[in-house]
Amino acid sequence: MISFGMMSLSLKSELTYFTEMARRANADRFTCFRFSPASIHPITEMVTGERFDQKKDCWVKAEFQLPNIIYDRCFYTNDLASKQAMAIVKWLKKKTDITFLGYGLPNKWEIYQVLSQSPLSPYIPKTILAGSGKAVIAQLDVMDTAILKPVFGSGGAGIYKIEKTGREFEISADIGDGLITKTFHSTSETEDWLDNLFRKKEYMMQPYLSLSDPQNYPFDIRVLLQKDHEGKWIARGKGIRRGIKDGILSNLRVGGEILPFEEYVNSLDIRTRKFISLELEEILTQLPGILEASFPRLFELGVDIGVSKDHALWVLDTNSKPGRKVITSTNPDLKEVLYKAPIEYASVLSKILPEREEQHL
Ligand SMILES: Nc1ncnc2c1ncn2[C@@H]1O[C@H](COP(=O)(O)OP(=O)(O)OP(=O)(O)O)[C@@H](O)[C@H]1O
Ligand SMILES: [Mg+2]
Repeated sequence: MISFGMMSLSLKSELTYFTEMARRANADRFTCFRFSPASIHPITEMVTGERFDQKKDCWVKAEFQLPNIIYDRCFYTNDLASKQAMAIVKWLKKKTDITFLGYGLPNKWEIYQVLSQSPLSPYIPKTILAGSGKAVIAQLDVMDTAILKPVFGSGGAGIYKIEKTGREFEISADIGDGLITKTFHSTSETEDWLDNLFRKKEYMMQPYLSLSDPQNYPFDIRVLLQKDHEGKWIARGKGIRRGIKDGILSNLRVGGEILPFEEYVNSLDIRTRKFISLELEEILTQLPGILEASFPRLFELGVDIGVSKDHALWVLDTNSKPGRKVITSTNPDLKEVLYKAPIEYASVLSKILPEREEQHL
C-alpha cells in the first residue's frame, strides 16, 4: 500500500482538487491523506490531518505516519506561519524515506541564471539584479524602458514599469482598472523611491518587451506541462491570459481574462501560426530537461510565454506549483486528466523508489 499525502498550508485550500484526486485513486494501492506541514509532530513525526474514506466518499480526521509520497501544494506568503511551514518542508525534502512528487523550483533569479546559460537563452529576457536605485537608473541608458519584478514574486504583485523620458522618470504599476503612473522630476528623487522599494524586497530588472496584441492588450501564453503515466513530460494544455487595454500585465488578478489558445492561433496568418507553433514546441520540449538537469525532480510546470510584436517568443516565468484555471476554463474536458495525473505519476515513482523506502510501502 502506498500512502499519498497532499500537502497544503491550510486544510481549506485546494479541497476540491484534493478530493477529486483522492476519489480517483485505486483504493487497493493508495491511501490518500491531506495535511499541513504545521501538523507534523516534531518528535513522533506523526501527522494530524485527514484520510480519504473511499467507501464514505469523504475525508475523515486521522492521525498517521508521514506519507511515502507527498504532493506539495503549499503557497507561501510573507507571514510567520509560511516561514515556519517552509522550514518544515525543507526538512521533509531531506528525509530519505519520503519522496516528493516534485521538489519545486528556486526563485526567479536562480532560474534565470540556469536558463540564460542554456540552449533556450535566445528566449530568455536579459535580467539583472536591481541592486540599487543608482544601478537601475544607469541601466535605463541601455534598456530604455524596463520592468522591475520581485525575485520571489507571484501573481503579478509588485511589478513596475520604469521609463526615462528626457530628464524625467515615470514609474507605472498595473492595478487592474488602469495604470497608476508616478512622474519623478529628478534622478535623486527616483533613486530614493527605488532604494526604498528594494529595502522591502529583492528585485530584478528586465527590458520592457512589448508583449501586447495589435489592439494593445498585454497577453501571454500559459502552458501546463506535467509528467504522464510513464513519467514523460507532456503539454496538458495551453491558454491565453489577456490583461486590460494599454496595461502592463496579463495577470488575472489585475482584471485580465482567459481566452482559448486556439482562438489566438487562428487569428494569426498561416506563416506566423507555423512559426509560433514551431518555436513553442522547441521551448516546451527543451525546458523541463534543462530545469531538471540543474534542479531536483519536478512533476509539473506552468510556463508563461510572451509574444512580442515582431512575433519573438519570450519565456517570462516558470512555476513549479502551477494553477490549472487558465487551462481548464477553456478545456473543461482536461479536468478529468488533471485529477488523475498526480497519482499516476506517484505510481511511476513507487516503482523506482529505493529499496529502503519500498520496505515502508
Ligand atoms: N520583461 C517584460 N516585459 C513586458 N511585460 C512583462 C515582462 N515580464 C513580465 N511581463 C508581464 O508581467 C506578467 C507577469 O510576469 P511574471 O510571470 O514574471 O510575474 P508573476 O508575479 O510570476 O506573475 P504570475 O504569477 O501571473 O505568473 C507577464 O505575464 C507579462 O504580462
Ligand atoms: Mg509568473
